[in-house]
Amino acid sequence: MKNKKHNQKKSGLFVTFEGIDGSGKSSQLRMANKFLRKAGFETLVLREPGSAPLSERIRKILLDPKLQVADYPELLLYLAARGQLVNEIIAPALDEGAIVLCDRFHDSTVAYQGYGRKLDLDFIEQLRLSLVGKVSPHRTYVFDVDYPTSLSRRKKTPDRLEKESELFFKRVRAGFRKIAREEPKRVALINSMRTPAEISADVCDDLEKLLHSKKLLRRKKLL
Ligand SMILES: Nc1ncnc2c1ncn2[C@@H]1O[C@H](COP(=O)(O)OP(=O)(O)OP(=O)(O)O)[C@@H](O)[C@H]1O
Ligand SMILES: [Mg+2]
Repeated sequence: MKNKKHNQKKSGLFVTFEGIDGSGKSSQLRMANKFLRKAGFETLVLREPGSAPLSERIRKILLDPKLQVADYPELLLYLAARGQLVNEIIAPALDEGAIVLCDRFHDSTVAYQGYGRKLDLDFIEQLRLSLVGKVSPHRTYVFDVDYPTSLSRRKKTPDRLEKESELFFKRVRAGFRKIAREEPKRVALINSMRTPAEISADVCDDLEKLLHSKKLLRRKKLL
């Protein structure tokens, strides 16, 4: 019994931040991270694609505006980057009981490659099962903005994916909303057409509840 307990893996908390380009993912992740750290939690902040050496190299390829990347090769590159990150970093961190915050994860592939590029959703799911396995977020925030808002918040030089058409982004946004409808227990759809502070209040409130439910909360009230 003693041995078994010693070998038992802890279960950390895996939270992902999703949405179309310029929806506020990175800003909200930073604010959530600050909130958790202030409350005394250690966190691991990651981004996708990237955050492992191999995955960062794949990221450079994927975001290069000068490169031609066909649809299915693009899909496989995203899954390769994710598979490496999960194996090398996320799964071991969760086994150690870490709180992992990730800027984008598999829902982005379903939304962009599945709904945006109209690739086969069953094939994407097969790839997920093979490459990502059972590692799945405990909570996902989808930051929802309309296309004009997204456009107004984007940086000046677009990366390869940001050069896509308005119709493409409308499909991607609808894809994210569909994911949220289909998995309401995991995915929270957040109206991101508000001030950063208003949005963050909703996210942190939800995180606090999540930490309570997982019995990870050290203090009764975080703020
Ligand atoms: N709620 C908000 N209201 C107004 N501006 C915002 C809001 N949230 C973020 N921004 C601004 O919009 C821009 C994009 O935000 P951010 O980088 O957080 O989005 P993102 O979803 O991570 O974008 P990307 O997909 O390009 O990484 C930034 O300049 C940020 O300061
Ligand atoms: Mg970002």
